[in-house]
Amino acid sequence: MENLILSISLFFLQLSATKTSASGGARGLQSLSKGQYLSVENEDDFLVSPNGTFSSGFYKVGDNAYCFSIWFTNSINKTVVWMANRDQPVNGKSSKLNIRRDGNMILTDADRSIIWQTSTFDQTWLEVQLLELGNLVLVNQTGDKIWGSFASPTDTLLPTQYLTKDNRLVSKRTDDTYLSGYYNFHFNDDNVLNLIYNGPQIASVYWPNPYQTIFQNNRTPYNSTRSAVLNKEGHFFSSDILKFNASDYGLGPKRRLTLDYDGILRLYSLDNVTGLWNVVWSPEIDACKVHGLCGSYAVCLYTPSPACSCLPGFEMVDKTSWLNGCQLRMSLTCNPDEVTFIQLNHTDYSGYDQKAYGVNITLEGCRSTCLNDCKCKGFGYSTTGDGVCYPKSRLVDGYHMPEHPMNFYIKVPKETVPAEDKMQFIPTRLNCTGIPDLSFMSEAGDDNGKTKTPYLKYLIGFVSAVGLVEIICIGIGWLYIILYHQGGEVVDMGYLALAMGFRRFTYTELKTATGNFQEEIGRGGFGIVYKGVLEDDQTVAVKRLEGVSQGEAEFWAEVNIIGKINHMNLVKMLGFCAEKKHRLLVYEYLPKGSLDKILFTDSSEQLHWERRFSIAAGTAKGLSYIHEECLEWVLHCDVKPQNILLDENFQPKLADFGMSKLIDKKGDIPGFSRVRGTRGYLAPEWMMNQGITAKADVYSYGIVLLELLSGRSASGDQENGHNHLVQWVLEKIRQGDGVQDIVDPRLNGVYDKEKHKKLVEVALLCVKEDKDKRPSMSNVVSILLEEDKESVEKLQLKA
Ligand SMILES: *[C@@H]1O[C@H](CO)[C@@H](O)[C@H](O)[C@H]1NC(C)=O
Ligand SMILES: *[C@@H]1O[C@H](CO)[C@@H](O)[C@H](O)[C@H]1NC(C)=O
Ligand SMILES: *[C@@H]1O[C@H](CO)[C@@H](O)[C@H](O)[C@H]1NC(C)=O
Ligand SMILES: *[C@@H]1O[C@H](CO)[C@@H](O)[C@H](O)[C@H]1NC(C)=O
Ligand SMILES: *[C@@H]1O[C@H](CO)[C@@H](O)[C@H](O)[C@H]1NC(C)=O
Ligand SMILES: *[C@@H]1O[C@H](CO)[C@@H](O)[C@H](O)[C@H]1NC(C)=O
Ligand SMILES: *[C@@H]1O[C@H](CO)[C@@H](O)[C@H](O)[C@H]1NC(C)=O
Ligand SMILES: *[C@@H]1O[C@H](CO)[C@@H](O)[C@H](O)[C@H]1NC(C)=O
Ligand SMILES: *[C@@H]1O[C@H](CO)[C@@H](O)[C@H](O)[C@H]1NC(C)=O
Repeated sequence: MENLILSISLFFLQLSATKTSASGGARGLQSLSKGQYLSVENEDDFLVSPNGTFSSGFYKVGDNAYCFSIWFTNSINKTVVWMANRDQPVNGKSSKLNIRRDGNMILTDADRSIIWQTSTFDQTWLEVQLLELGNLVLVNQTGDKIWGSFASPTDTLLPTQYLTKDNRLVSKRTDDTYLSGYYNFHFNDDNVLNLIYNGPQIASVYWPNPYQTIFQNNRTPYNSTRSAVLNKEGHFFSSDILKFNASDYGLGPKRRLTLDYDGILRLYSLDNVTGLWNVVWSPEIDACKVHGLCGSYAVCLYTPSPACSCLPGFEMVDKTSWLNGCQLRMSLTCNPDEVTFIQLNHTDYSGYDQKAYGVNITLEGCRSTCLNDCKCKGFGYSTTGDGVCYPKSRLVDGYHMPEHPMNFYIKVPKETVPAEDKMQFIPTRLNCTGIPDLSFMSEAGDDNGKTKTPYLKYLIGFVSAVGLVEIICIGIGWLYIILYHQGGEVVDMGYLALAMGFRRFTYTELKTATGNFQEEIGRGGFGIVYKGVLEDDQTVAVKRLEGVSQGEAEFWAEVNIIGKINHMNLVKMLGFCAEKKHRLLVYEYLPKGSLDKILFTDSSEQLHWERRFSIAAGTAKGLSYIHEECLEWVLHCDVKPQNILLDENFQPKLADFGMSKLIDKKGDIPGFSRVRGTRGYLAPEWMMNQGITAKADVYSYGIVLLELLSGRSASGDQENGHNHLVQWVLEKIRQGDGVQDIVDPRLNGVYDKEKHKKLVEVALLCVKEDKDKRPSMSNVVSILLEEDKESVEKLQLKA
């Protein structure tokens, strides 16, 4: 009790401390001390630097998604210079940043999981401040910095911030996300600062010029200090003797050096009148020579802005992303009689030269070398008359530039060669309307005007719908090559889109992975689940959906949202397949299977008390996470042990959430869906045809909790709103002298009596007839985690 009073009074103390400093003149806080916190919900909860140049707080990156960030207060759209958790945004509710008493500054998500921390330790006084230069620091009593954000930049270096051997800039993935991308600016092992594309499949340096020596590039490898800094006047200098000045050199303008999502490093100055950024320096890199833009076989060309394109006879591997580039529609054989070459003027691919061929080789000689070598995919031949020949084993980072002194010859099957007139690469108008997969995207663009929210409701901004259409259009406009002076619609490249590991599979791929759907591992209302192994040896669960009448586009739209939901207590969706009538979902594979198998049919005593408790808590966290989003359709509506899967450590993961959106609703009684809910777990409001809210999930959760505690199954055990398991539990309590009778005998009496009592109480609150008396899932999480003893009492009073 003492503890409780103490924590309540501390709570108010913290609150008032925060508010006092908030009301001190300008909005925003000067500093934050131990025990205080910034809350995502409170607009005034952010720090400002002494003169107000920078602010630091929760920055909105999606509909209900925030990253803890530092931004320029006075730039248009608040330019972000640093993020604590750019790859893992937190929920717009209940997320907090606080300095714990042990000196660790932590960022917690709605479910209280720690998303990011400074891992600092200091038992004495500590304070976090945002310095005028943009460094967020934790200082101790003597003013020493215990931690500073300058040591771990994201994509931006501010004046006086050092780039060292221990850090690097990493670009954003696309223009409108804050996710980490693949471009890096760092010191390499030769002590030279460079720009490198560090992609999932290949890594390659594109600046300084990789075809020249370090010295030809005016750098030196001899100084191993590895340190570089931009000073306040706008002069940059590095230990490898790279130096440059801002074009508006001098004190005054606020500047930032940012590695942009397109792989180009730019120094910007802020125009203090308009709030806009001007580029005041950038290395000389052709946008199309940045690596990793377009993937295998694809060619980057200016239209006039850079765009990727597949060649005639090729198609994009993955229509949502250029990462994997293009592939031939027909396979290439090794037989020289069956292959030929397409000529691309002023075009080249980077690297992968099979041999550095000398000069004075005839075109015919070069061609025959490549023709007779199965590994050769094509060759470059110089147009300057010196007979330089470059056969290549891999075609990546292709580019076309009007004056480039190289023609490229790509090996293709003879059948795919376009007719002579097509060889002129007459560009076709881009036509998106005929592509079924995209119709929803263009609709999305129209429906919401400029916003991109409907498909991005869930965490993380990704690519805007409009941006996605553009990218795909370019892919489809495969004849869009070589000529770039046509007047038609010209589309900018949004570059690497949606490379989140969530992807589209072909039916053949999944058929192969599952050995023609052999090993059945589960069966539910939505279809049968099979075990499979993907090409990269990842084991997956493939669910074949039944009763889906949605078109491919609609289906894609829905799964895309579900695919972005990411939480340790929710089963991760890895991808999907929508081809003709086939609708399949690919999930991570969980070796322990579902809870019902272990709880009800397994006689070995694997489910000891701690495991049961952690399953109860984890399931609550998962549900709480989806409920916090307040999206009606993500209500689970079918919480039961069959849908709680266990990983190798017996951590629970909820399966099947969001499914109601994918399944045909035709023929259902209004308000009572054929596929949702299972007898034994249904809240009374289902029977009464009342509106279904998150509280229906809470009811089902309560039943699952009773099952976990008692070891008795509730499945099917429900008539006219009376749940037999609940009746049994109430009866036991009435008869006995407490809750001790409601214990699974398989526990052999080994369990935590306090926790057990609490779980029974929580379960009974969850299964209240009146849905308003049931706690929310986040209440349940709090109670289970014992962080909020008060809430139990409050709820009991209310009940
Ligand atoms: C804040 O602005 C004042 C007046 O412009 C200046 O004298 C002072 O140096 C600035 N403080 C910092 C920390 O830059
Ligand atoms: C600021 O954001 C708005 C809305 O996203 C956008 O329309 C506008 O172009 C942005 N302005 C600048 C300068 O980036
Ligand atoms: C503050 O930190 C510095 C460096 O870690 C340390 O030397 C100093 O003793 C600390 N001061 C206090 C009061 O703990
Ligand atoms: C190496 O670089 C550092 C940082 O730029 C500089 O201070 C130092 O003098 C350099 N050392 C030599 C030997 O040039
Ligand atoms: C940058 O400008 C300063 C002052 O004008 C000059 O001394 C210096 O040489 C310049 N550095 C470079 C790399 O241009
Ligand atoms: C804006 O920038 C200019 C040039 O750097 C400077 O002369 C002027 O004082 C600045 N104005 C304000 C309001 O800071
Ligand atoms: C290339 O051939 C031309 C004419 O046959 C000759 O003049 C030239 O020296 C040759 N170049 C080399 C590097 O062999
Ligand atoms: C490529 O160049 C050759 C001559 O260098 C020319 O005959 C041909 O028409 C060009 N092809 C295209 C598509 O421009
Ligand atoms: C676009 O494609 C659709 C379907 O393939 C076709 O009916 C339509 O005529 C095309 N539009 C243009 C402008 O080519």
